[in-house]
Amino acid sequence: MAELLPQQQVEHFKAKAAAIAHPMELVVDVLRAIQDHHGWVPDEGVELAAKILGTSPLKVEEIATFYDKIYRQPVGKRVIHVCDSICCWTREAEQIYAYLQQKLGIAPGETTADGVFTLLPSCCLGACGKAPALMIGLNTYGHLTREKVDEILAKERSTVKT
Ligand code: FES
Repeated sequence: MAELLPQQQVEHFKAKAAAIAHPMELVVDVLRAIQDHHGWVPDEGVELAAKILGTSPLKVEEIATFYDKIYRQPVGKRVIHVCDSICCWTREAEQIYAYLQQKLGIAPGETTADGVFTLLPSCCLGACGKAPALMIGLNTYGHLTREKVDEILAKERSTVKT
């Protein structure tokens, strides 16, 4: 298995955890760091986070499975979260979702054969004023059209390291 987290970052988080009253405050940061480095968070990543924070894997798992942007299974290098909540639904998000599936050749929950894109539904992304919307990494895109989706996919693909 590829390295979960560089030792330097493990030590960094251990020192931070030792300096605060409630180390669990760092759980999302630790999980995100593991995910950024490893691509997703396997069971061993949950165990590592628990060890760093001095808690049980179950406590970490409770948080890891609560957030839909912590990935407990392998995903592509870019995960597309398509909003399917009410504002986006009323602005034809279903058609955008269908277009993405057709364009990428994958169903929801699947990853493209080249390992670049994973497609997932999402609850409201907080971009209702720009509905329909989707999120990839920290980028939120709104006022989606088929043309805009084509541009977004090209832009995101261009940022993937091969
Ligand atoms: S309902 Fe889609 S961003 Fe809020």
